Amino acid sequence: MKKKTNLKVMIVMGSQSDYKTMKLATNILKKLGIKFDTKIISAHRTPNRMYEFASSAVKNNIGVIIAGAGGSAHLPGMISALTTVPVLGVPIESKKLKGLDSLLSIAQMPKGVPVGTLAIGEDGAINAALLAASIISNCDPIIKKKLNNWRLSQSKSIKKRPS
Ligand code: RP5
Repeated sequence: MKKKTNLKVMIVMGSQSDYKTMKLATNILKKLGIKFDTKIISAHRTPNRMYEFASSAVKNNIGVIIAGAGGSAHLPGMISALTTVPVLGVPIESKKLKGLDSLLSIAQMPKGVPVGTLAIGEDGAINAALLAASIISNCDPIIKKKLNNWRLSQSKSIKKRPS
């Protein structure tokens, strides 16, 4: 029997300026028919908002959190410290260090509090949404089918020869 999950994906980002990157994650989730919401939450500018969001994530049926952040990028790790919901971090390309600072601060979490880290920038945002879809699809066969179809159409779009 086909069963749908109630779990949704939450996409959070440290600033409005991150949205041009994180919007690409929303496009993928829309295509796959996955429920999601977006929020601006900054670990240093809105710490109370971050605490309230992360500590109530399980209760609010959030199955995966995608967190985009730039600069010292502590947002994904801080959220993960407050919840057992899987957190996928997207390092935003920063102006000064091209996102290397974001990448290292998200990827190099000390043991005990994990953050799954994606690539810097747009590729990372797209892959975070695809990975969130994979996680959610474990308890939703309809989403699993949509994800498989998405992969098939990607394969079909690759030409056999260069022109
Ligand atoms: C971080 O600082 C945000 O994630 C953003 O990538 C970066 C710059 O923020 P703005 O100065 O553009 O608001 O908190």
